[in-house]
Amino acid sequence: MADPTYPCNRHFVSLLDGVPQTVAVGPDSRYQLTAQHVADHWVANTVGAMVASPANPTGTLLTAEEIAQLDQVCRRKGGALIVDEIYHGLTYGVEAETALAVAPESFVINSFSKYFQMTGWRLGWLVVPEAYIELKQSGWRKTSFSVHPLRRKRPRWRRSSRR
Ligand SMILES: Cc1ncc(COP(=O)(O)O)c(C=O)c1O
Repeated sequence: MADPTYPCNRHFVSLLDGVPQTVAVGPDSRYQLTAQHVADHWVANTVGAMVASPANPTGTLLTAEEIAQLDQVCRRKGGALIVDEIYHGLTYGVEAETALAVAPESFVINSFSKYFQMTGWRLGWLVVPEAYIELKQSGWRKTSFSVHPLRRKRPRWRRSSRR
């Protein structure tokens, strides 16, 4: 994933026992990963590349062609492209391209948080390529990283201190 990126992403990777790898990006690529970055930094245990368009924190967009090239390099290496589209619908004067139009084998992340102004609900969705559906279902619970306040119970340490 690019550096800078949404800071939680590397922790999500660790949560699933992965090793996050960040690639320093700059203005020459509009702070986005390019297919060349992915090819250059792919190592033996790499399983995919993650991008966001529009990106956090820079707000830059990937073109359809750039997404297609990223997808191609990931699949050529035996992995997959993950595209975070949480800021779709929040661009001004330009439409963001969805990865699904050019990279149907990619994973596409979205959420109600931004466009629907439901920050804090931690409610979103993931479009998963058919070949990965079974695998994804087995990892689902681990990735639900925040629970809505109404569902929260008293922390365990407080319960035990009352005994
Ligand atoms: C790029 C990006 N992806 C994902 C998220 C997480 O969104 P949610 O509020 O649905 O947890 C954020 C939140 O700021 C974000 O900026």
